[in-house]
Amino acid sequence: MNYIHLSQVDSTNKYAKELFCGGETLPTLVLADSQSAGRGRLGRGFFSPDGGLYMSILFFPKGCAEAVSLFTPLMALAVSAAILEIFGKETAIKWVNDIYLSGKKLCGILAEAEPTESGVKYAVIGVGLNISVPKGGFDAEIKDIATALFPEGCDATQYREKLGFRIAELFFEYFNTDRAVLLEEYRKKLLYINEKISVNRFGESYTATVLGVDDDFGLIVRDEGGDIRTLHSGEISIRPAEGLL
Ligand code: BTN
Repeated sequence: MNYIHLSQVDSTNKYAKELFCGGETLPTLVLADSQSAGRGRLGRGFFSPDGGLYMSILFFPKGCAEAVSLFTPLMALAVSAAILEIFGKETAIKWVNDIYLSGKKLCGILAEAEPTESGVKYAVIGVGLNISVPKGGFDAEIKDIATALFPEGCDATQYREKLGFRIAELFFEYFNTDRAVLLEEYRKKLLYINEKISVNRFGESYTATVLGVDDDFGLIVRDEGGDIRTLHSGEISIRPAEGLL
């Protein structure tokens, strides 16, 4: 795997995409100490001050375009396993792209791919993880919902590369791991099982109960009318239903 370390960049996902020059190369890990324009899902920004791990992997997936929906769940498992291995901390997965620690968001994942008629030309998967609380704390709008592995003042540089490399290694390992083993692990870590959530799909919201994930890592929910729905789209966001926490 190629490796590029930047002290600052606008977005490691954007940088990794720009590395693609028409043909397949070795996968490349891009890691930055901070980002000036970190990107989140659904067109949101991602707060990326020094103190975090901001990484993207450019890679060349084999197989059909449907495989793209596996990238985020496999990365969620890789992040969670690396944290347990290195820091001994148990984390949970908030479907589909967030990792939670003690009820707060620790990490977000953003997968992007350039599709062709039969598959994918290249893919970039990005991970933004708060290693330590940034100097002066989290921004006001996320301070109640965000957390970090370590408190303010802890030097994140000592962990950044070790964690980034282990996450990348596990991510690729999971492509060759039996799906049943991954699903079992994913189901153990899934947040909100049997709880009510609010599902937002293209601006339309409804309340549903989480039942589990199907064999393609789709989220199975039961809506208030009793219908069972499976959520696949990356355009869906979920949160606990208000007043039910
Ligand atoms: C989310 O929570 O909505 C996903 C956040 C993904 C953030 C990471 S940080 C590294 C990579 N570069 C980006 O611009 N975004 C991803």
